[in-house]
Amino acid sequence: MHFEPKAVTLKDGRTLVLKNQEPENALEMLEYMRQTSAETENMVRYPEEVEISEEEIQRKKEMLKENQEDKRSLMLGAFLDGKLVGNAGIQSAGERFKMKHRASFGIAIIKEAWGLGIGGMLLDILLEEAPGMGYEMVELGVCEGNERGISLYNKKGFIQCGRIPKAFKLKDGTYRDEILMYRMVKKTME
Ligand SMILES: CC(C)(COP(=O)(O)OP(=O)(O)OC[C@H]1O[C@@H](n2cnc3c(N)ncnc32)[C@H](O)[C@@H]1OP(=O)(O)O)[C@@H](O)C(=O)NCCC(=O)NCCS
Repeated sequence: MHFEPKAVTLKDGRTLVLKNQEPENALEMLEYMRQTSAETENMVRYPEEVEISEEEIQRKKEMLKENQEDKRSLMLGAFLDGKLVGNAGIQSAGERFKMKHRASFGIAIIKEAWGLGIGGMLLDILLEEAPGMGYEMVELGVCEGNERGISLYNKKGFIQCGRIPKAFKLKDGTYRDEILMYRMVKKTME
């Protein structure tokens, strides 16, 4: 979905631009994915699982183009001094009638930009846009122990509604539960 670019002033006085991820950002996006996957265990992939090749760049370009044209998906990049430091998005949890009111949310900010309020800003915009995109609720899964993420989601009104034991298996052989959270974004009849 198209989003009109927005410039905001951060806690530290720097200007952040929030805008759609363009297909031209494909390589930067892959590099950002590799970096964020290396910086914490709270991502769903290991860095080496992000392949950076001509083929992958092309695939990413097409994915970003489709995303822009899809009225039910919104992916936003956060650019600090022109550099991609964060990305967050919502997309449909299922396009059949019984599920199409549910949006899935995902986010990652590079570590050096944590704590500046970027995660909160991206989440606020997506929660505001969600009803206009046809959604009544936004849901997410977060790895146990991700206190920063859980604190952000609690602050934004998400409610814990379940837990998948041992959802993530790490290289050291230990497991982490996935905590499921949701938030209504539009009043329903119930
Ligand atoms: C989780 C994440 C998106 C938060 O982004 P962010 O830009 O740092 O978030 P914000 O600065 O808007 O807010 C973070 C909040 O967590 C709080 N917080 C920070 N460290 C914390 C900690 N160790 N324990 C509890 N809360 C903490 C802060 O107080 C802040 O709230 P405040 O604005 O009221 O002070 C970011 O850290 C990230 O991308 N992490 C790695 C990937 C990830 O975990 N993605 C989510 C997967 S579900």
